[in-house]
Amino acid sequence: MKQALQDKFGRALQDLRISVTDRCNFRCTYCMPKEIFGKDFAFLPKEHLLSFEEIERLATIFVSLGVRKIRLTGGEPLLRRNLPDLIKKLSVIEGLADIGLTTNGVLLGKHAQALKDAGLKRVNVSLDAITDETFKSINDSGVGTAPILENMKKAKAVGLEVKANMVVKKGMNDKEIIPMAKYFKEHGMTLRYIEFMDVGQSNGWDFSQVITKKQLFDQLSQHFDLEPVDPAYVGEVAKRYRYVGTDTEVGFITSVSESFCSTCTRARVAADGKLYTCLFATNGLDLKEILRSEKNDEKVIEAIAQTWQKRTDRYSDERTEETVKHRKKIEMSYIGG
Ligand code: GTP
Ligand code: 5AD
Ligand code: SF4
Ligand code: SF4
Repeated sequence: MKQALQDKFGRALQDLRISVTDRCNFRCTYCMPKEIFGKDFAFLPKEHLLSFEEIERLATIFVSLGVRKIRLTGGEPLLRRNLPDLIKKLSVIEGLADIGLTTNGVLLGKHAQALKDAGLKRVNVSLDAITDETFKSINDSGVGTAPILENMKKAKAVGLEVKANMVVKKGMNDKEIIPMAKYFKEHGMTLRYIEFMDVGQSNGWDFSQVITKKQLFDQLSQHFDLEPVDPAYVGEVAKRYRYVGTDTEVGFITSVSESFCSTCTRARVAADGKLYTCLFATNGLDLKEILRSEKNDEKVIEAIAQTWQKRTDRYSDERTEETVKHRKKIEMSYIGG
């Protein structure tokens, strides 16, 4: 077997997150606040987006370098026209074991069957509240929880594995922590609580707004008996637990209180084809430029390999007041989380 590509800390390149658009039909207050992402905001023009053929070419190259999991993200990935066509192309790449999608779920009901037929396996749906009023005030787009929950059920019914993602921010949705757990436990779906992170420049992050895994766990423990579940693989993002006596899991994504950089095997490609080796990166490598100028894959492979081999990213291990305030980080909606 070929020697796996490793970065400076011996971390292999195993997962790839591909953002297919920087646009979103929500304006979550902590991610795309309307004051910044308003009518005049300059989203990427179409010609700057990677085409499906370019994404397919890149994905094939990444798989040849060791990637086994691909997750499509946005903005909102289901806003990209004909997304199932891309999934079809990816699903036949030999060696790729898993294709997932992270979505806000608004368009999921409409496309669930086509996504499943195309080869999608798993969907993570971002849902920060179960109460209509709170959810609406977070997404700032007038969408209630009923259509999203309905769409999650549809996705499950067509055979997709469905999980819910809840970003928890103090003062925003603390009251939803237990109601969310109750709902998803009852419906047999995994819910993951995500510690609010200092991604990008526009979310006004402060440590005082973070509810840590420990605090979440303590609250949940007052209502439910939980037992730990072993990670499915080294470097799994969420810490997993099971409600005792059930098959239903609950997870915690602890980028702030218990960073997981030491096992981070993820690369990210933004919608304009820039390669980032960390969610909190400032600069990316312009793969689109290389893809469009090089007919031969060799140069693309070399550029990716060199970038990965130089990688020293461990932002969540190094987070300080200084990095929170002064590092010029890319936006979540652009890099895709
Ligand atoms: P699964 O394959 O289902 O475990 O998906 P995932 O959790 O890797 O992906 P998802 O898009 O659902 O992301 C959930 C949360 O984890 C989001 O807030 C992401 O930004 C965050 N996340 C994913 N990967 C990383 C990472 O490498 N570093 C940090 N800090 N956060 C990450
Ligand atoms: N901190 C943590 N998670 C975030 N997401 C968006 N912004 C943040 C943030 N600042 C989540 C979305 C989605 C996933 C891709 O990232 O809600 O579930
Ligand atoms: Fe909300 Fe996700 Fe859209 Fe950001 S990308 S505004 S978190 S739905
Ligand atoms: Fe990986 Fe960067 Fe997240 Fe650390 S902060 S886990 S290096 S993406």
